[in-house]
Amino acid sequence: MVKTVQFYIRMLCWAMLLFAACHTPATENKIIPINEKPNENGEVNIVLEKVLNHQAGNAITKVTVAYDPYFKTPKKYLGFSLRQLLEATWKASKFDTANAMVIFECKDGYNPVMDLSKIYGPVNGYIAFKDLDQPEDNDWPDSLSQHFSPYYLVWDQAQKDDQSLFWPYGLTTIRLIPKKEKDRLIVPDSSNPAYSGYLTFKDNCIKCHSINKIGGSFGPEFNLPKNITEYRDEQQIISFAKAPSSYRYNSRMPAITNLSDQEFEKIILYLNYMKDHKYDH
Ligand code: HEC
Repeated sequence: MVKTVQFYIRMLCWAMLLFAACHTPATENKIIPINEKPNENGEVNIVLEKVLNHQAGNAITKVTVAYDPYFKTPKKYLGFSLRQLLEATWKASKFDTANAMVIFECKDGYNPVMDLSKIYGPVNGYIAFKDLDQPEDNDWPDSLSQHFSPYYLVWDQAQKDDQSLFWPYGLTTIRLIPKKEKDRLIVPDSSNPAYSGYLTFKDNCIKCHSINKIGGSFGPEFNLPKNITEYRDEQQIISFAKAPSSYRYNSRMPAITNLSDQEFEKIILYLNYMKDHKYDH
């Protein structure tokens, strides 16, 4: 029995080797890896303009997208393979990929987060820089050029209703983040004045209120898609937290009675800071 299984495994390996050998293209598309050492948090930043040199040409791929949710139609682009770029980078940088995450940073501050393993899914990602439905000297439709350049992330065979894929445009940087760093998405640098507000928020609010979807879900999320300070008056946030039932009968939020006004102000400072650090995932 064991022998038979071993035999099949061996046959499978040969078959896979043969398949790989036959399918290696004669001129292999190459993305020049960047040897960016992970920073002290184990994170690698890929500044796309720096890495992807269109003129080099040899890694450019024609991408056929079955359904583009932005244009609501099939599309064709020129771009680079996301998987090739990331593999080349993490090999050169010796980045630890186990359970890692990718953050896509865009010009407009939209920063979706995805599990790195997703690049091995059935759908392939491409970093597109030209819409092939446009004339030769236009990369993007005129009205969208400002938003879409420099890069737009597309997926070739995505299903129309697949909500798990992000299509960020105005993409500038890709960050590889080791899993243990996930919580850092909600923590300001310790030298930032918002840091102490974070500590107060963590001790008193986060078990019920999430920030960037990290935290409890008993109460509403406070940063996505809108930060609470974008639609609630700051003094109102404080007085609500002090006495929810004076605003709403049956409020499920307990009154917060252990914090000074100063501590509440710090929480507001933190919430304000997070407004500019939205990471959707
Ligand atoms: C035990 C869970 C819990 C804790 C802890 C908690 N909240 Fe809440 N909070 C809720 C719930 C549940 C709601 C939803 C509204 C309701 O039930 O009134 C809410 C609503 C709010 C709202 C109103 C949001 C809106 O837009 O209507 C604010 C403001 C708020 N919380 C602030 C805070 C702050 C600040 C802290 C920490 C100092 C905190 N909450 C701690 C459970 C909690």
